[in-house]
Amino acid sequence: MYPTSPIISAKALTRTYSPGTSTIIGINEINLEVFPGQIVVLKGNSGSGKSTLLSLIAGLDHPTRGELTVANHDLKTATPTALTRYRRDVVGMVFQSFNLLPTLNVLENVCLPGLLAGHPDSRVRAKANELLEWLELKSRLHHRPSELSGGEMQRTAIARALINDPTLILADEPTGNLDSCNGKIVIDLLVDLNRHQGRTVIIATHSKLADPYATLQIYLRDGTITKKTCQR
Ligand SMILES: Nc1ncnc2c1ncn2[C@@H]1O[C@H](COP(=O)(O)OP(=O)(O)OP(=O)(O)O)[C@@H](O)[C@H]1O
Ligand SMILES: [Mg+2]
Repeated sequence: MYPTSPIISAKALTRTYSPGTSTIIGINEINLEVFPGQIVVLKGNSGSGKSTLLSLIAGLDHPTRGELTVANHDLKTATPTALTRYRRDVVGMVFQSFNLLPTLNVLENVCLPGLLAGHPDSRVRAKANELLEWLELKSRLHHRPSELSGGEMQRTAIARALINDPTLILADEPTGNLDSCNGKIVIDLLVDLNRHQGRTVIIATHSKLADPYATLQIYLRDGTITKKTCQR
């Protein structure tokens, strides 16, 4: 049912941290294939390696060992310039703490990655307006993040993640700072982006909200995959 080549391929992917003389395992020897159009839920206790794995896939961090290819980009050997382009063009990232810039309003926060990518101002603004309308934030365009509810902040962050039309959306605990109603709205939006727009979505979460929609559930413990459940 999915295309035969994976969008994400990890082989013996390992990230360790070496503060001082100790070695801490982030993830260890992960083998993984994710196919275009899948919706993946990453599960595991605190410290099991979910954020480490997402950061590597996002190109925000660099593997210690192993191989990682995403959308034909070899992230192990990519130059800093290639990684910047990859993060900008391929990935949309949503975080638990929203990570909006406090001095910019909603519209400016959403437009920023599009403008940094060098797209024409008018096109970026039109796309941002369209996304913010879809996310029911049209009445909040000129509000700063501090003037928004948690749900509104996360919807703004989703719009920002979509401004450059990424094929891959990575969400690290996106409902962690939201009540259950807003958490459900955010998961429904991520599911919609997967089902109706064909984007590949990976959600790291302690919540069960996304479970019914997952095509692949990955369980991590101490940096290794203990179980994978493919649901269709
Ligand atoms: N920068 C770092 N320096 C040292 N150790 C780190 C660093 N980042 C993560 N770790 C360690 O790597 C392991 C995996 O952490 P990670 O943040 O990936 O877990 P997680 O599954 O996302 O946890 P949570 O559910 O609490 O978000 C943990 O033991 C953590 O302490
Ligand atoms: Mg985490």
